[in-house]
Amino acid sequence: MRTIDEQGYHFEEWLTPTQIAKDVQQVANQISADYKDKEPLFVVVLNGAFVFAADLLRALEDVRCEVTFIRVSSYYGMASTGQLEFIVPLQQVVDQRDVIIIEDIIDTGLTIHQLKAHMRAHGATSVRVATMLFKPNKLEYDDAKPEYVGREMTDEFVIGYGLDFDGFVRNLDAIYKVKE
Ligand code: IMP
Repeated sequence: MRTIDEQGYHFEEWLTPTQIAKDVQQVANQISADYKDKEPLFVVVLNGAFVFAADLLRALEDVRCEVTFIRVSSYYGMASTGQLEFIVPLQQVVDQRDVIIIEDIIDTGLTIHQLKAHMRAHGATSVRVATMLFKPNKLEYDDAKPEYVGREMTDEFVIGYGLDFDGFVRNLDAIYKVKE
């Protein structure tokens, strides 16, 4: 098993590239079936979701779609009234579009809760969410429950495949879990 030491923490490989590819394909199959006759607009949440998005979008079959990017930062100190800062704002019109937000991981759900409201406020016909990882035990916002999930997990901190630790290790080809 591969291991990584990063900033004094020890991480062990949890999902190999092969396992990730299987999870991604299963999500792609579900989206392909649901959106065959639609023309969805995928909104990729930067920075973390870029790796998952690149694999997911190329695994879709017969889905005519557009892709755009958004970069946000949320302030947890403000809890449910927390403000989402748009570092890279939405650059595409979502009015009357079927939007699918692509995230790397859903933790409390605050980011998705606010992004969904943002898309709806801008007239999206529908808003669904695809995420590589989901921590259901930590979810605090019901409407942030994702429709498409690569893999559910418990509450550990994970890195790699787009997920960072203070900006580093996003480029790892596998997903690693921190070990005590
Ligand atoms: P939420 O708004 O609480 O759902 O948090 C989502 C964001 O928190 C993700 O897009 C990640 O940037 C970050 N995050 C949550 N859990 C992890 C983790 O285990 N590793 C790396 N980043 C994480």
